[in-house]
Amino acid sequence: MINDNKNKYNSISVEDIDDFFRSESDRSRDSLFHNYQKLMAYYRCAIMEISTKFNVLNEEFSLQYDRNPISNIKSRLKKISSMKEKLEKNGHPFTLDSIENNLNDVAGIRVVCSFPDDVYMLADAFVKQDDINLIAKKDYIKNPKSNGYRSLHLIVTVPIFLAHEKRIMKVEIQLRTIAMDFWATLEHQLRYKKNIEFTDDVAKELFLCAELSAELDSRMDALRDKIQLDAKIIE
Ligand code: GTP
Ligand code: MG
Repeated sequence: MINDNKNKYNSISVEDIDDFFRSESDRSRDSLFHNYQKLMAYYRCAIMEISTKFNVLNEEFSLQYDRNPISNIKSRLKKISSMKEKLEKNGHPFTLDSIENNLNDVAGIRVVCSFPDDVYMLADAFVKQDDINLIAKKDYIKNPKSNGYRSLHLIVTVPIFLAHEKRIMKVEIQLRTIAMDFWATLEHQLRYKKNIEFTDDVAKELFLCAELSAELDSRMDALRDKIQLDAKIIE
């Protein structure tokens, strides 16, 4: 079963919202809080829709080929403090409409795949679905970032169907292999735990580690092809 950590979003309290919508009166703050919770619930629904789509693709593929293209799926909602920071940095107001219109990554899903081919196979099958609208694609696998970071990023919209309305929600999806995820997770830890810029030496070493993990991916890919070929010859 794929690990989809759904229940970690309920930690935002009225006090958190108070901090961020401080200038409002008590009454309008209550209503803002209610609407904020509603909006976040819609993003959670969008995450559920998309996670299900990837789980379905994983199920179908594993029946067909006897292996899972997805190792795990993680998801998260952006923290309210990060939303505020990003909106302000980009010169946008910090309002609910602005969150919805100006942020692409309030809802984020990370699909960690077994092999590089699986990333593209899953992304293609996913964006072809007729309720998915692809807004942007950044291929940091074919064109890695200068620090070595690799992943395929998609920004999409997905409809969610509520009792009395249909809402179109934006979601950021990152697809990467286990090796890419290993590098990105550790690089993120090293970068964010310490409040310092990497020295040139450290950056160079991290870049080399990214290259090593890409090498690992292509060797595992070749190994998989060889095993498949050997199996065919035996048949
Ligand atoms: P953000 O403002 O950070 O969202 O960046 P962006 O809008 O320019 O988008 P980009 O596609 O570059 O990055 C989006 C997300 O990808 C980030 O929030 C990270 O989760 C991930 N990411 C991008 N670059 C790196 C990197 O160098 N290291 C790691 N660990 N993650 C990265
Ligand atoms: Mg982001």
